[in-house]
Amino acid sequence: MDSGYAISMTAHPWPLFDLRLRTPRLELRLPTDDDLLELMRVAREGVVAEGQTYFAVPWHALPSPAFERQFLQHWWASRGSWNPAKWNLGLAVVAAGQPIGIQDLMARDFGVRRTVVTGSWLGRGHQGRGYGTEMRAAVLSLAFEGLGAEIAESGYFEGNAASARVSAKLGYVPNGEEIWAVGAERVVEHRIRVGRDTWRRDVVPVTIEGLAPCLKLFGVGELDATEWATF
Ligand SMILES: CC(C)(COP(=O)(O)OP(=O)(O)OC[C@H]1O[C@@H](n2cnc3c(N)ncnc32)[C@H](O)[C@@H]1OP(=O)(O)O)[C@@H](O)C(=O)NCCC(=O)NCCS
Repeated sequence: MDSGYAISMTAHPWPLFDLRLRTPRLELRLPTDDDLLELMRVAREGVVAEGQTYFAVPWHALPSPAFERQFLQHWWASRGSWNPAKWNLGLAVVAAGQPIGIQDLMARDFGVRRTVVTGSWLGRGHQGRGYGTEMRAAVLSLAFEGLGAEIAESGYFEGNAASARVSAKLGYVPNGEEIWAVGAERVVEHRIRVGRDTWRRDVVPVTIEGLAPCLKLFGVGELDATEWATF
C-alpha cells in the first residue's frame, strides 16, 4: 500500500543523526556506534585525575569490562528511550575528526518548562585547551537560539575549577547547592544557571545545521500520529 510518505534517501529517518553543531575547532554530533567505541576508549584512558570526585555516579572508575558495557548501554539507552517529553542529547565532541568527549543537553517537558540541563567530559589529554568552553557554548546556542530555551542549568562538584570557570565565562550565576553521597563521601555540588538574555553568546561563534526536522522531537511543536507512534 502506498502511504504517500517517501523516506528520503539522504535524510536520516532519526533526524537527530543529521544535526550538527559547529564551533571554530569542534563538530558536535549524535555518536554512531563506531563513535561510541572510540569515545569509550578515550574515557578509559582517563577523564578525571585519581582521587577527584566530579561525578555523582563514578562511571569512569568501573573496572573493565563492566566499564565498557555500562558505557555503551548508557548511550544506547539514551538513544532508545528518547521521548519529546524527556530527552538526553549526548553529543560526540569531535576535534580534527577524532571524538574526544561528550557534551550532554537534557530536558524534561521542554515544551512547557523551556529549561535544559547540561553535563560534559573530555578525555584528560584534551582538557585545558578551550574545548570545554566551545562545546558548552555549542549546546547553549542550540538551547537558546535553536530551541527557544529560557533557562540552562548545570552544576559542578567542589574543587572542579575548570568546570566552574567554563560556566562563569558563559554567564552562569550561582543557583544554590546540592549535597551528594558518592559512596561514603559527602560531596557539595554548586548548582548554577544562566538565562536566555544573559548567556554570553559572544564568546564562541556557533553554527547549527539540520535542526528543523528535529524540533518536534525536542518537544517544540506537537508530533502527529504519522510522525510518532502512540503505543
Ligand atoms: C570540565 C571540562 C569539560 C572543561 O573543559 P576544558 O576544555 O578543560 O575547559 P576550557 O579549557 O575550555 O576552560 C577551562 C578554564 O578553567 C580554567 N582552569 C582550569 N583549571 C583550573 C584551576 N585549577 N584553577 C583555576 N582555573 C582553572 C582554565 O584556565 C580555563 O579558563 P580560562 O579560559 O579563563 O583560562 C573538562 O575539564 C573535563 O572534562 N573535566 C573532567 C570531567 C568533568 O569535570 N566534567 C564536568 C563535570 S561538572
